[in-house]
Amino acid sequence: MSYPYQIKTAEEYKEAYKKSVENPDAFWNDIAETFQWHKKWDRTLEWNFIEPDIKWFVNGKLNITENCIDRHLKELGEKPAIIWEPNNPEERVRIVTYNRLHKRVCQFAQVLKNNGVKKGDRVCIYMGMVPELAYAVLGCARIGAIHSVIFGGFSAQSIADRLLDAQAEYIVTCDGAYRGEKVIPLKDVIDDALIGNKTVKRVIVYTRTRTPVSMIKGRDVWWEDEMAHAEDQVEKGGAVSFPAVEMDAEDTLFILYTSGSTGKPKGVVHTCGGYMVYTNYSFVNTFQYQPGQVFFCTADIGWITGHSYIVYGPLSAGATSVMFEGVPTWPNAGRLWEIVDKYKVDILYTAPTAIRSLMGFGLEPLQGKDLSSLKVLGSVGEPINEEAWHWFDEHIGKGKCPIVDTWWQTETGGILISNLAGVTPGIPSFATLPLPGVQPVLIDENGKEVEGNPAAGNLCIKAPWPSILRTTYGDHERCRQTYFSAYPGLYFTGDGALRDEKGNYRITGRVDDVLNVSGHRIGTAEVENAINMHSGVVESAVVGYPHAIKGQGIYAYVVFNGDKHNDTGDRQNILQTVSRIIGPIAKPDKIQFVKGLPKTRSGKIMRRILRKIAEGETQNFGDISTLLDPGVVEEIAEGKV
Ligand code: PRX
Repeated sequence: MSYPYQIKTAEEYKEAYKKSVENPDAFWNDIAETFQWHKKWDRTLEWNFIEPDIKWFVNGKLNITENCIDRHLKELGEKPAIIWEPNNPEERVRIVTYNRLHKRVCQFAQVLKNNGVKKGDRVCIYMGMVPELAYAVLGCARIGAIHSVIFGGFSAQSIADRLLDAQAEYIVTCDGAYRGEKVIPLKDVIDDALIGNKTVKRVIVYTRTRTPVSMIKGRDVWWEDEMAHAEDQVEKGGAVSFPAVEMDAEDTLFILYTSGSTGKPKGVVHTCGGYMVYTNYSFVNTFQYQPGQVFFCTADIGWITGHSYIVYGPLSAGATSVMFEGVPTWPNAGRLWEIVDKYKVDILYTAPTAIRSLMGFGLEPLQGKDLSSLKVLGSVGEPINEEAWHWFDEHIGKGKCPIVDTWWQTETGGILISNLAGVTPGIPSFATLPLPGVQPVLIDENGKEVEGNPAAGNLCIKAPWPSILRTTYGDHERCRQTYFSAYPGLYFTGDGALRDEKGNYRITGRVDDVLNVSGHRIGTAEVENAINMHSGVVESAVVGYPHAIKGQGIYAYVVFNGDKHNDTGDRQNILQTVSRIIGPIAKPDKIQFVKGLPKTRSGKIMRRILRKIAEGETQNFGDISTLLDPGVVEEIAEGKV
């Protein structure tokens, strides 16, 4: 595999960037032509950001799995596509070659077909990090079904909402999942989610933990039985095949739900052609991947990072992708370093929260681990603080590995702002420069573009790149409202940013009511809705506060019914309620019971004040004269937990 579009020098970056802005059609044509298409596109790009209506590679026909698997078989068939490291280091590892991946994906596509799945049907995938999750995702893509992966930390209620929104008819799950010392009963959660569900016809269950499950007649089937049956169907005379269904470049590849500033998560829609081209391009360039290297992204496939940089980006580049089932701190805090040593990992891509948590264990877990194979390090999910950056650089990269600080979002599909490893310089806490094809702008409070450097403002993007979201599933107006209405003609990211004298971007964080907890997006409104479901709660307000490991912690102010509450018991009950409604990932770190919330006369909660109190401010709350009852502020500040 070679990558003719791989940028090798800072000069080449400048040239590529210039061409991508001046002539985007020609720029992306050259890159897209290196992929396998059934039919070439008629036009490269049609767009407007008003409706919005965005189409890349118009009328092009392809199947992404042929690009991620089939086209590599001749050259890389016996090379590892996925190296799977189990939760428990004592368990056998699994090395999935491209040939094996091809076989399993064909088999699973056949399983889907046997169970009635057709092009365009929605398949919800709720599994742990086992290779079968990758087979399920790619099997869907092969048959043209739309996958919607749900992270294993979401509750039955969250799954039920997503199943309803996507009108999903099929589910792929596991009996259970291992996460450190815990076993999560996934099938049980699915059973709860399906109470009252009217759309789901079939649940396919893979055996991982041997957790007892109730299989419902006529609805639930075992993965193993289905795969055994399909094996005979796809294998003929020693050859394996399942014809990849021809997809339009703009057919939906997947839906991935993400939080916003309202109470209801949105189904971000990505399509086949543009997403394929951009995840590959950004993978090859940001990480400077070289053929034969081992790439290890520590994310979960339940998030966009796992979709783009465990599955689609690396596999479309013929790379070897490490998939880790466990957590960085179990059975000890040397787990990631042991994996790097064991597989001679070349590129490690992780999150600041993981780095900060591992820093807390000191250097002991690094002892005896040979990290000399590492060449590039990457960070994603939140701003990386300087302390974590330096620790990563010094103790993991040994001062010789470029660190790429990659800024992007579920909606962007791939990395938009980052240094390119060893090609353009990294600066601690800066994502630095936009990738070719990406045109960031900063907008001031009056909606005007801030030109010149240095500058600060809300981060927007001026023109589409191939993997921009196309819509939010079933509700295009919501997509327009959320991303394209604040500044007409621009895509608004929801982040604030600074630009230094040389044009390097530093992301300062969300400017909306979205929290970033351990690199995961959680809407404050969503958490408030969940807390308010608890019977004793009158109302609540949720804000973020700086948290040493998670980046942001969740601080909840709760007004309880009457004075007679039991602090400890009610706190537990509220946590339990949030776990039930959203999932354990959204549990508040701190709950403060208050008599009232600071509200304006029109009834609006002044979150600015609550944020200050959560951050530890005791006096300077700014102008509070517009409050209905200014006295409440002092009371809340005194009761801070
Ligand atoms: O606030 C930004 C932050 O994460 C948000 C996107 O979250 P999500 O869609 O869950 O995707 C996370 C993984 C791509 C952004 O709006 N963010 C992500 N990467 C960075 C970041 N903030 C600063 N620096 C980054 N490198």
